[in-house]
Amino acid sequence: MHPHSLPPTIHESRLSLNRLLPRLRKSFPDDIETAEWYAFEDRLERHFPVLFDLLWRVYGPSYDFFFHVEQILRTCAESWLARPPELKSLDATREGHAHWYTSNRVVGAMAYVDLFAGDLEGMRDKVGYLKELGVTYLHLMPLFKSPAGDDDGGYAISSYREVDEELGTMDDLRQLSAELRHHGISLVLDFVFNHTSDEHEWAMKARKGDESHQAYYWMFPDRTEPDQYERTLRPIFPDAHPGSFTYRTSLGKWVWTTFNNFQWDLNYRNPEVFNAMAGEMLYLANAGVEMLRMDAVPFLWKEKGTNCENLPEAHLLIQAFNAVARIAAPALIFKSEAIVAPDDIKKYVSEEECHLSYNPPLMVLLWNSLASRNASLMLHALPKRFELPQGCSWVNYLRCHDDIGWGFEDRDMWELGMNPHDHRWFLNRFFIGEEGTSFSRGKLFQHNPTTGDARICGTTASLCGLEKARYEDDEHQTEYAIRRILLLYGIIFTMGGIPLIYLGDEIGLQNDYDYEKDPEKDGDERWLHRPSFDWEAAERRREPGTVEDRIFHGMLKLSLIRKNNQAFHETRTEFVDVGNHHVFGYFRVHEGQSILCLANFNDYPEEIPATRLRQLGLRKTFTDLIAGQPIVATEKLVMEPLQFMAIL
Ligand code: GLC
Repeated sequence: MHPHSLPPTIHESRLSLNRLLPRLRKSFPDDIETAEWYAFEDRLERHFPVLFDLLWRVYGPSYDFFFHVEQILRTCAESWLARPPELKSLDATREGHAHWYTSNRVVGAMAYVDLFAGDLEGMRDKVGYLKELGVTYLHLMPLFKSPAGDDDGGYAISSYREVDEELGTMDDLRQLSAELRHHGISLVLDFVFNHTSDEHEWAMKARKGDESHQAYYWMFPDRTEPDQYERTLRPIFPDAHPGSFTYRTSLGKWVWTTFNNFQWDLNYRNPEVFNAMAGEMLYLANAGVEMLRMDAVPFLWKEKGTNCENLPEAHLLIQAFNAVARIAAPALIFKSEAIVAPDDIKKYVSEEECHLSYNPPLMVLLWNSLASRNASLMLHALPKRFELPQGCSWVNYLRCHDDIGWGFEDRDMWELGMNPHDHRWFLNRFFIGEEGTSFSRGKLFQHNPTTGDARICGTTASLCGLEKARYEDDEHQTEYAIRRILLLYGIIFTMGGIPLIYLGDEIGLQNDYDYEKDPEKDGDERWLHRPSFDWEAAERRREPGTVEDRIFHGMLKLSLIRKNNQAFHETRTEFVDVGNHHVFGYFRVHEGQSILCLANFNDYPEEIPATRLRQLGLRKTFTDLIAGQPIVATEKLVMEPLQFMAIL
């Protein structure tokens, strides 16, 4: 083994810092006597060894490695010096209360700025509504400059420093983040760092022939290398283009485009790209963003002969971004968006990498239980991978702006005697309403007739049966649809992790079919579940008995129960087999409080024998926090159809 392939020792990293610091100080002559600078050096002392080690593992062999490390430290210093005092104060607070996001008081919500509130200024008027729901974490969908027309819902970013004109300005964003913070709401934005749009300044320079910027992306003169890579890649958006590369005639080159052909993958083999993106990340942090949703993390690194997903270097890079944040914006935390196999998702979660992660396995297992009226697969699969490292948490959700892909672990299904392929097809048919017992109104997304793969689109309400029930004017089915929504959200609010509401779900917003008339959206079925927020419908939450009132207040109750009970703190969740496969059960235990949550997925009443309850340590009488009723279970506990209980 070449001696340099060994990671640096602590001693070596100290020597490196000692070598780099004087050079760095020279670049900031006016600042080095200030308290700000001392604070910076103090952090650097603490976190440099980790950063250095990570950078070394990725970029160590390059001849100008130290030059790049110095540039990265310079980026950190500049950003730290530019960081507003209010955020420095937040840094100190967060450092003293590091795991604040594992608190039961954290409740999340997500929305598109334009669809929810028109623009950033309008968003400030909606803070009251968010507070009413108890929201303390707000994820706004990408709001930066992006190409006109199709921009993948904002995920094709042309500038990380300019807000989309129609939504406002950077100043509006800073004001909004401050206003949210003053109301106890943390702003969450995406860090779309796997790719930029083909109109980003770097891409524009590359398009004009600038070789140093062409080196920011993956470009090939002919198909030789793309063909080699493609042997082992899976297509992500097969409808947009076959394979992962796009030919740009004007450039005469093939460009790596994992997603749409206007989203160019960044080339992290080039250390300049890491440094440039670290600068963009810190710019967002300095605008008041407290959490970054790390977009499309699995795809960061490419290596021939692999599927170019979840490679070790992708992890090292995220950890290096994390170390940069610890040095220059310590309040900033990361949430990973890894929509990959269940066993790979957890690998992104640690305090050194992403503190939080979406929980797609829970999401798909919930929808599966709803369709099959059976909790067995969930009980079999979830406990295996639910536990997270200390100080980390799940973000539990039912719907987001993307499709639902049936990312179960095939092995789990085989173990229960299910055929994964057939079952996935059953679920697809169920959620598009083509299965006998279906109540859903969804649509297929990225249907690949060759493999039979497809994903599902639709709002929570439409997938839960509200659209069909209202169309058929069926009060009984309407009631059941509402119960389904509250059953699923009941679990989201009480399971270990942060609950995330897709805004609109709390008032039962249904599918929006108008996207089919918009040429820029038609063909991307995800727009089906991205309706404009209906403020008139939201007003009806105040009229007793309306659908909006029943869902909204049901969710509000869940939000309050979560916040008022210590048991919902942190992520520890103990799953239990209650002896009835229609009923999903788990305990939440924290500081002496223990709550048993039960969810009946069947459309019929279900029973749990009292002997089983006694074995689980329950007395004869207890209180269901949801119904607010004492219950006496001498012989058995009878649950109503689709009932959710939190038993204390
Ligand atoms: C993420 C986003 C998705 C987007 C993709 C490409 O998966 O959630 O909406 O299409 O990244 O940026």
